[in-house]
Amino acid sequence: MSTDAIVILKDDHRQIRRLFRDFRGAGEKATATKGKLATRIIEELNVHTYLENEVMYPEVRRLIPELEGEVLESYEEHHVADVLSMELYAMKPDAERFEAKMSVLIENVTHHMDEEEQEWFPKVRKGLGRSQLQEMGARMVELRKTAPRSPAQPSALKKVVDAVIA
Ligand SMILES: [Fe+2]
Ligand SMILES: [Fe+2]
Repeated sequence: MSTDAIVILKDDHRQIRRLFRDFRGAGEKATATKGKLATRIIEELNVHTYLENEVMYPEVRRLIPELEGEVLESYEEHHVADVLSMELYAMKPDAERFEAKMSVLIENVTHHMDEEEQEWFPKVRKGLGRSQLQEMGARMVELRKTAPRSPAQPSALKKVVDAVIA
C-alpha cells in the first residue's frame, strides 16, 4: 500500500464521495438508511479532517509558506463542515431540517474536495519531495488508528473554540 500522503487523502475523498452518492440515491422514505449513512459520512469526515489538520495542513504551512492563505481557507471550510456535522450527529433523520442540512454539508464538502484535488494537491506535490509526502503518509497511517470518529468527542469542541480564538 502506498503511503504517499496525497494518495491516501484522495482515497478518503473517493470513499466519502461514494457515501454521498449512496445518501443522495436513497429513497425519500428511506429514513433509517439515510440516518445510518449520515452517521458513516460524519465519522469518515471526522477522521479525514483529523489527518489533514494534524499532518497535512501544518506541514504544508511550515514547508511551503506561500500556500499559507490556502491552508487558512481550508481550516475555515473544514470548520463549517465540523459545525454542520456536530449538529447532524445529534439530529434525528426525520427532523425537519435534517435533509437540508445534509445537502448543505454534501455541497460544501464536495466543493472543498474538488478544490483540493484539482488545485491544491498539485501545488503541494510540486512543492514537496516524494520522501516528504511518504513520511507524512506514514504518519497518517499511524494516526488513523486512534483518530476520533465521533464529533461528540471532546476534541471536537476544542476545534470549534480554536477556530474562533486561536
Ligand atoms: Fe480538506
Ligand atoms: Fe481532503
